[in-house]
Amino acid sequence: MPHIAPFPSRMSALATTLLLSSLVSCAATTVATSPPNADGEIIPAGEAAATAALAEAIRTSVQAGFDQNGHAFRDAHRKSHGCVQATFTVLDKLPSHMAQGLFATPKSYNAVVRFSNGSGSSQDDHKNDARGMALKIMGVGGPKLLEDEQSASTQDFLMTNHPVFFVRNAADYVAFQKAATGGGLALTGWLAAHLFHETPIILGFTGHKVLNPLNSRYWSTTPSKLGSEQMKFSARPCAGGTFVEQSDTANRMSENLTAQLATGSACFDFMVQTRTVPAEMPIEDPTIEWKEAKSPFVPVARITIPAQTPEDAQTCEVRSFTPWHSIAAHRPLGGISRVRKDVYIAVSKLRHQLNGQPRIEP
Ligand code: HEM
Repeated sequence: MPHIAPFPSRMSALATTLLLSSLVSCAATTVATSPPNADGEIIPAGEAAATAALAEAIRTSVQAGFDQNGHAFRDAHRKSHGCVQATFTVLDKLPSHMAQGLFATPKSYNAVVRFSNGSGSSQDDHKNDARGMALKIMGVGGPKLLEDEQSASTQDFLMTNHPVFFVRNAADYVAFQKAATGGGLALTGWLAAHLFHETPIILGFTGHKVLNPLNSRYWSTTPSKLGSEQMKFSARPCAGGTFVEQSDTANRMSENLTAQLATGSACFDFMVQTRTVPAEMPIEDPTIEWKEAKSPFVPVARITIPAQTPEDAQTCEVRSFTPWHSIAAHRPLGGISRVRKDVYIAVSKLRHQLNGQPRIEP
């Protein structure tokens, strides 16, 4: 620990404690039980227990919301900024290593996109928050990954408006969730203990100022399969687009989106980057960005959103999105993706059951 020695004289006792605890927390979460599989996945000890604890904690929070409000909402990305109809057109002449799975054949699909905030409360759009873009592509053939939805015909891609996620794995998410739920000193302690990595990411994650969800870039942050390759994906507004950003009310996001689509259209390039340098592009740590300099994003499809009136709130609310609505060629990868498999299903089933709504796909 000589490296720490020169620091104590300049750093306060608290800072030293913080540094030590952040090192301890890093060390604690890297015990592996399985050798890496072909896609580089390594399942750490305790992941199943952490996943079960998370699913239970989130179910409890959704139930508490229902008991209080008489309606069960999503525990995250609760506020919709609009559900819109779109087409998803796979481009022609793709590089052969990218022309896999859904991208193997140039074709146009109908799709729905739900734009959302990040937090579990339907807060004012001026507040710092993440933004979500959940894409559901219809009419996709082939067996699907989820046991009880194998014959479904949808492929979902979920994104958020920041290139990396803010925790590395299930155990870290449990610790974060506990601190965030505890609030006050617990949260300050967590933020301080993660001062050199996760905390700056969280500030970046929730710090983007967006006035219209159609005018923002989105990233998967977690990896997925691309046939025999591994990929991350991203949606970027098409070049030369113009955006309506007139409203500045508490609901400016949905108001600007609705105003734009009342007369005009919007579009996004859907792009993928492949895992060209495995040593620098981890599967099990979505807090690490895959550098575009080493693996540029390549457009593989175009999302076209024609002029329209967005879906009514009820229809939009009832939909369920999960990265696990997928064909095997795009299986989500890594610990955070494995957590989401159980959590999203558990929460979607609970909120539909509590609200007496049918859970239909799509
Ligand atoms: C362990 C990590 C995560 C947990 C526990 C989690 C939890 C959740 C939950 C409970 C929902 C609501 C599901 C529903 O009620 O239907 C949700 C929705 C969502 N999550 Fe996550 N999430 C995680 C990681 C991520 C990551 C890495 C992304 C990055 C793209 C992401 C993007 C989204 C989006 C876009 C939605 C909204 C989907 C919709 O519109 O219905 N989440 N998440």
